[in-house]
Amino acid sequence: MLAFEYRIESALAERKKSGLNRTMNVVFSGNQSILENDGKRYINFSSNDYLGLANDQALVHAWQQGLSVYGSGSGASPMVTGFSAAHSNLEAALTEWLGYERAILFGSGFSANQALLFTLLDKSDVLIQDRLNHASLMEAGALSPAKMKRFKHNDIKHLESMLDGESNHLVVTEGVFSMDGDCAPLKGIAAVTQAPNKWLAVDDAHGIGVLGESGGGSCELSNIKPEILVVTFGKAFGMSGAAILCDASTGDFLTQFAKHHVYSTAMPPAQAYALIHAVSMVQQQSWRREKLTELSQYYQEYLGELSGFVDTQTPIKPFVIGEPELTLNVAKSCRNNGIWVTAIRPPTVPKGTSRLRITLTSNHSKEQIKTLSIALKQALGER
Ligand SMILES: Cc1ncc(COP(=O)(O)O)c(C=O)c1O
Repeated sequence: MLAFEYRIESALAERKKSGLNRTMNVVFSGNQSILENDGKRYINFSSNDYLGLANDQALVHAWQQGLSVYGSGSGASPMVTGFSAAHSNLEAALTEWLGYERAILFGSGFSANQALLFTLLDKSDVLIQDRLNHASLMEAGALSPAKMKRFKHNDIKHLESMLDGESNHLVVTEGVFSMDGDCAPLKGIAAVTQAPNKWLAVDDAHGIGVLGESGGGSCELSNIKPEILVVTFGKAFGMSGAAILCDASTGDFLTQFAKHHVYSTAMPPAQAYALIHAVSMVQQQSWRREKLTELSQYYQEYLGELSGFVDTQTPIKPFVIGEPELTLNVAKSCRNNGIWVTAIRPPTVPKGTSRLRITLTSNHSKEQIKTLSIALKQALGER
């Protein structure tokens, strides 16, 4: 067998043997609270559409309007001819809402995080990341020229012990952790990074829209303003794309030097147009956040007694089972009972902590959470 073929085949075989193989499912009827797969209907507890906007008809209509004004594609990268009035207005809406001078748009949160760490860091810098940060941050950090260190999850003392007075430090944390649904202690982290040579970057992919009075996310909730804030539009905004919020010179710097910005086609202007609508829905429709709080209480009421239950302040509800095979079996049994929950296994989460990643959206009902609890109890009983 040729070298590449051998490498590919053995990696695939190893994945299967360790019970970590992943599959893609074709989902019909949209990614809503009910999804259809293979002719069957399931209650969907796996999407990141926390505010239920992905299929909101007002947002669909805004995108259609954007299409009729701007056409389908941006046609070029932003520095060429890809930057439209819609992009510019979206940037303005974001900066005004979140209190920054600049917002630089990207096609995805993954590329925003890569652009940030690749562009900002130099080899004399120290990058310090929470050890549970998302793969996009970890990979970008490892490939960046800086020296990367990882602090224990949410451990401010450990973080503080890694800071010194000399080098430039960039501390990076998520606002809400995607696999655990817990919040970073942002107030404390901001306090220990308050020095001219220390910057804080918060990736608030899972907090924006969900937390804070106006949906401004983890930083609004904690009343802090990090030097860099990354927000993504694939979760609570129900769409896709991302923005880096920062001051004017950092914005100019990223615009000039971030290769993911300079050498990549700008997001479709119709999408930017619809995102402006999504921003105002997120800000104004606080009932969606209130509904999530109410659903979280039902979740606690119905599942709080079960071993594996984890209490969180967010719509991400990890249900920790332990071993990958067992977690898969529980997810399978739930699926047989009409509940779609995803089994998350290493390397996405640490060994021994395989889990169901249960997510709530404001489109769920109390009844659906009760159905989830019945299916889960039955699945756990079958172990
Ligand atoms: C914390 C975090 N950051 C960044 C990303 C990447 O965002 P996107 O899906 O827009 O590429 C994700 C995606 O799941 C995430 O959870």
